[in-house]
Amino acid sequence: MRYLDIDTPTKISKIGLGTWQFGSRGWGYGTSYADRDAAAIVQRAIELGVTLFDTAEVYGRGRSERILGQAIAGHRDSVFLATKLLPVAPFPPIVHQRAVASAARLGVSRIDLYQIHQANPLVKDTVIMRGMRDLQRIGLVAEVGVSNYSVRRWRAAEEALGSRVLSNQVSYSLAVPGPAADLVPYAEEKGRVVMAYSPLAQGLLSGRYTGSSRPSNQVRAFNPLFLPANLERAEGLLAALREVADAHDATPAQIALAWVIRSPAVTAIPGASSLRQLESNVAAADIDLADDEWQALRDASVRFRPTTGAAAVPAMVRARIGTGNRSGSQTNSQANGQIGSA
Ligand SMILES: NC(=O)c1ccc[n+]([C@@H]2O[C@H](COP(=O)([O-])OP(=O)(O)OC[C@H]3O[C@@H](n4cnc5c(N)ncnc54)[C@H](OP(=O)(O)O)[C@@H]3O)[C@@H](O)[C@H]2O)c1
Repeated sequence: MRYLDIDTPTKISKIGLGTWQFGSRGWGYGTSYADRDAAAIVQRAIELGVTLFDTAEVYGRGRSERILGQAIAGHRDSVFLATKLLPVAPFPPIVHQRAVASAARLGVSRIDLYQIHQANPLVKDTVIMRGMRDLQRIGLVAEVGVSNYSVRRWRAAEEALGSRVLSNQVSYSLAVPGPAADLVPYAEEKGRVVMAYSPLAQGLLSGRYTGSSRPSNQVRAFNPLFLPANLERAEGLLAALREVADAHDATPAQIALAWVIRSPAVTAIPGASSLRQLESNVAAADIDLADDEWQALRDASVRFRPTTGAAAVPAMVRARIGTGNRSGSQTNSQANGQIGSA
């Protein structure tokens, strides 16, 4: 494992583990995953040197925090625990109360990184950060982070806090390469961290899904990247990934992760539906891409133009209506050889 060169008491691993999948109905991995596999994935991750674990109060309505908290018990000092506040009415007393509730579910007396899940369009960060400052002062929160923030708002959040806002957790992958242009250079210059979520574009970059074999869980049904036409458009990007993967005796998913974490300011938090995926993702931390490989992938990424936003809505509706009758679409349970449903 490799670690970020940032002065935190527990070093932050370049590959972390995202735990939205834990106890979440939307991912549909079933009860055996929530009750057993998730804990085994966390324990194996710790054995392999992963320190960064990301969750949120909203994942599985607190269930992800509970599952993660139980799984790390006994390893508290070797993990860097990150959770998130959903900023609904984020006035200081509410921020305090929600942090206490998250810490209780996690079973810890300190949250290593407390992140604002998304920018609140109505409440300014000057208000939210008053609550965050209190939490830091009493030691319940070590570092403050944000998520889904622009560079401008990240900077404003830092001014409001009056000290560093360590990280910004954003969607960043070969399918969503935008942060490479602004957030990553900003983090490199300021000694801050970009935490890449959905670094595998929710599995698209593994090459496992095609226009005729799509995942059918709720989360991905609402992700336009999995529209049949977008999966077809992704073929060029996947071909470029396979070419680099062959040269490294690696998988496309591993190369997709290696691409994202190449900057010293970036860590990635892929989710995993199995131990095998976790082990494969961890191994990606040790892959070094050459400059020309990184650039060739970036070029392929720029050429990938999926239909997203409002333009994707009619096709999403058509795909949703057709989902139940598609013989080619697989449920996650089928795809993973698992039984049971969430
Ligand atoms: N801050 C935010 O707003 C926000 C938003 C989204 C996510 N997140 C965080 O980021 C984490 C990761 O993002 P994500 O879960 O959306 O997407 P992701 O990490 O890109 O994709 C995870 C999915 O990809 C598949 N996968 C993982 N490793 C694989 C491998 N080695 N080979 C093949 N397939 C593999 C698995 O699905 P299948 O096996 O079912 O294909 C897995 O559930 C989340 O758990 C959460 O902690 C944060």
